Amino acid sequence: MRHLTTCPLTLLLLPSLIQGQILDPDDGRPSCDHCDLHLSCNCSFSGFTRVPTVTDQALSLDLSFNNITMVTQDDLMGHSRLRALDLHGNRLAVIHPSAFDSLWSLEELDLSGNLLTTLNHNWFSKLEVLQQLNLLDNPYRCLSHLSSSLFQGLVRLRRLKFGGSDLKELRTGDLLGVTELADLTVHANNLARYDSGTLGDIWPLGRVTLSLHGPFLTNVAVAAAVLADISYPETPITLEDLHLVGNQSVQPFRESAKRRIRHLSFRNFSVSDESIVDLLVVLDGVPLSLVSFEDVTLNGEGRWEKGSWTDHKNIDQFFLRNVVVLDVFKFTSLVKLKFLLQYPRTVSVTNAGVFVIPCETSRLLVNLQYLDLSSNLLTDLTLAESLCHGEKTLEELRVLNISGNPLKSLSMMNRLVAKLKLTHLDISRTGYSSMPSSCSWPSTLKYLNISRAKLRSITDCLPTSLEVLDLSYNDLKSFSRALPLLRELYLSGNKFLRLPAGQSFPNLQTLTIQFNTLNVFSLPDLRSYRRLENLQAGYNKFICTCDFVNFLQSQLKGGGDVKLTDREDGYVCDSPFHLKGEAVSQVRLSVRDCHQVLFISLCCGVFLFIGVLLCVLLWRLHTFWYIKMTWAWLKAKRCSQKQRKDTVESEGLLSFDAFVSYSERDSSWVENFLVPELEEPTEDSSRSPSFSRPMSLCLHKRDFLPGYPIMDNIMSAIEHSRRTIFVLSENFVQSDWCRYELDFSHFWLFDVGGDAAILILLEPLPKDNVPKRFYKLRKLMSSTTYLEWPQEEDRRPEFWRSLRNALKRDGD
Ligand SMILES: *[C@@H]1O[C@H](CO)[C@@H](O)[C@H](O)[C@H]1NC(C)=O
Ligand SMILES: *[C@@H]1O[C@H](CO)[C@@H](O)[C@H](O)[C@H]1NC(C)=O
Ligand SMILES: *[C@@H]1O[C@H](CO)[C@@H](O)[C@H](O)[C@H]1NC(C)=O
Ligand SMILES: *[C@@H]1O[C@H](CO)[C@@H](O)[C@H](O)[C@H]1NC(C)=O
Ligand SMILES: *[C@@H]1O[C@H](CO)[C@@H](O)[C@H](O)[C@H]1NC(C)=O
Ligand SMILES: *[C@@H]1O[C@H](CO)[C@@H](O)[C@H](O)[C@H]1NC(C)=O
Repeated sequence: MRHLTTCPLTLLLLPSLIQGQILDPDDGRPSCDHCDLHLSCNCSFSGFTRVPTVTDQALSLDLSFNNITMVTQDDLMGHSRLRALDLHGNRLAVIHPSAFDSLWSLEELDLSGNLLTTLNHNWFSKLEVLQQLNLLDNPYRCLSHLSSSLFQGLVRLRRLKFGGSDLKELRTGDLLGVTELADLTVHANNLARYDSGTLGDIWPLGRVTLSLHGPFLTNVAVAAAVLADISYPETPITLEDLHLVGNQSVQPFRESAKRRIRHLSFRNFSVSDESIVDLLVVLDGVPLSLVSFEDVTLNGEGRWEKGSWTDHKNIDQFFLRNVVVLDVFKFTSLVKLKFLLQYPRTVSVTNAGVFVIPCETSRLLVNLQYLDLSSNLLTDLTLAESLCHGEKTLEELRVLNISGNPLKSLSMMNRLVAKLKLTHLDISRTGYSSMPSSCSWPSTLKYLNISRAKLRSITDCLPTSLEVLDLSYNDLKSFSRALPLLRELYLSGNKFLRLPAGQSFPNLQTLTIQFNTLNVFSLPDLRSYRRLENLQAGYNKFICTCDFVNFLQSQLKGGGDVKLTDREDGYVCDSPFHLKGEAVSQVRLSVRDCHQVLFISLCCGVFLFIGVLLCVLLWRLHTFWYIKMTWAWLKAKRCSQKQRKDTVESEGLLSFDAFVSYSERDSSWVENFLVPELEEPTEDSSRSPSFSRPMSLCLHKRDFLPGYPIMDNIMSAIEHSRRTIFVLSENFVQSDWCRYELDFSHFWLFDVGGDAAILILLEPLPKDNVPKRFYKLRKLMSSTTYLEWPQEEDRRPEFWRSLRNALKRDGD
């Protein structure tokens, strides 16, 4: 147990620190309530310096990227349901030994990217169901603490990551208790000491990722010992951050070679020509089936011929991605790789600056089924060379990916692949702008990807054998080619105004047409596709008509056979203006919006009805007559004002003693009794002279000026008479003109003042018998005393006397 003393026991100092925290009575902890419906709480990037309080129902808690410096005993108390805890990227230096004790359900724990200088086995002692543990990138030098193994109780652990730039030692027993892993990641770029066998007890061992930069450069024995412990035929190994220089740094791979590993990957890999040759030598005859290089910096010219004698015929899959060739102008091209390339069935050389594969190299790729040359520098000409100008070659090739190359001519492309037996062709992200009117594709072609090119229209060039066609992000406006076998069609990012006609695609199951300019689509549109199951049509310029909104809302709810599988909030109204930007699922349209014609006609009908009703009412209430009256009155008032001014200048304008207002039917009485009595009085000595003075009466029959409007005549007659005599009878009540005279004189009365009206009742006319609309007359009858025409002869002199009295002039 020598190693126990080598790891500094700084932890002994910690309890006092932790104690202070626990006893702190001021529990002013911040709280975090960013929890979603699934009780997943995301409190990252929130600037917390302490563990915030969170509902103890939480199932996952993300505290990454805060400034938390310690976890106390109480911080996570009660979180017995928590499954995932992420403390990545804080400044954790202290964790209380029993801080995680109540996390019985914890399955994932991430403590990476903190300032932990020591690891304590007590942290994990209660985490019996923990499956993932990430301890990467903390400044601890070793894993072990006191005599106990860190991971002793973690029987369910399947994914383990540890290490960092400070990790110096890995010792026997450090991984005691870790029996079986699906994933092991060790960052040990500065590992100085490794006890052989430390990682050797883990089996089965899934994927292993190792960073062993330093050991490979300066301490190959350590590197070799690590590789020896984790190399199994079934275990894919990825080595990161390696810089291979010279024969020595390659020798650790002998251990892996001995154990006949089959999958070897390099990431962030820097290598020279010599080291490649050495590596080929070391791996000679190893049954490697997959070799992958990613983020490679090649310090050389590609002169690897010296290794061409080695045997790599087991290599089935070869991946090369993101290559920087430092001396690109001296590089001898892939032609020298032919001793490697003749075996694999899958070759992927992407983003590697490849501008040509010589035809002679291509001819060697006799087993090749899958060739991915995406994101390189192939042009129409060099592609022609690489595919041997369309001659018989690459007979086994089924999948060709030349996405992301500066290619221009689709007809050239078509000629080159016509004789291949391709099933998949990816020519996306190219410069193809037009399609020849007819093409001859391999009859086996099922998958064609021409997305992100510059096509403006499509032609019959598209083969009818296609099952999957991707034309997204071109400049297309319509689609008229019938493709009977097509199952998936991708048309996003074009300029379609409507869905293509479904009759052309009887087998289509998936249609993606987002980011176009679709205005609407309808149930009949969808029904024209007989087999359609998934439709993604969000992010279009939808016109939110009622039909469309109703239809889409029912579709979004899952009605109908076609499922809209993209995000609901992608369906947004573009017009009408007041709905712009609103999610279709949220739109509520009113009856007015939806039945405009009906609404307008209903409104008109109601208005018309009310109008008619009003007219009838007004007519019933004689309103028009009153309006006419008011108008006349206003006119009269104006005249009378003018007149009064005149009166001041010339007195004696009144030319009649009385204006007689009577109904035509009562004219016989007026002519036979009234006129003779008042205008031609009989001499009677007993009466005072004034009584027998002849009076002048104004009768409409006699004194109205012909040729003037009758209204004007009436008005002037009343105005020029001192009094107005109303001869009341049933006939009077029935005459409109009389009523008018009555009303007018009434206004006159109020204007001039005085008692100008004299009422004579020819026949008994009880006030209550007068119709209600003669309210003026009724008023006058109750306010003015009236004279009754006596039927008896002997009472008539009395009547005349009273009348004369009433007509008496002020001066008399
Ligand atoms: C939490 O939110 C951040 C951004 O605030 C995001 O980057 C992170 O992925 C989220 N984490 C989870 C688990 O959703
Ligand atoms: C953490 O603290 C440092 C300085 O103390 C500050 O620069 C940084 O922005 C803080 N980080 C967060 C996530 O609040
Ligand atoms: C790549 O590896 C080098 C050491 O060879 C290291 O310094 C660098 O940080 C690594 N880069 C990345 C992105 O990991
Ligand atoms: C590389 O080293 C190994 C053993 O260390 C030796 O057997 C081999 O010959 C060397 N190869 C070269 C090319 O120097
Ligand atoms: C071709 O390569 C591109 C980019 O590397 C990739 O997205 C695409 O899926 C590949 N196509 C096929 C058919 O594998
Ligand atoms: C077509 O290619 C693009 C770009 O390489 C890729 O993103 C897309 O997934 C491919 N389409 C299909 C259906 O595989």
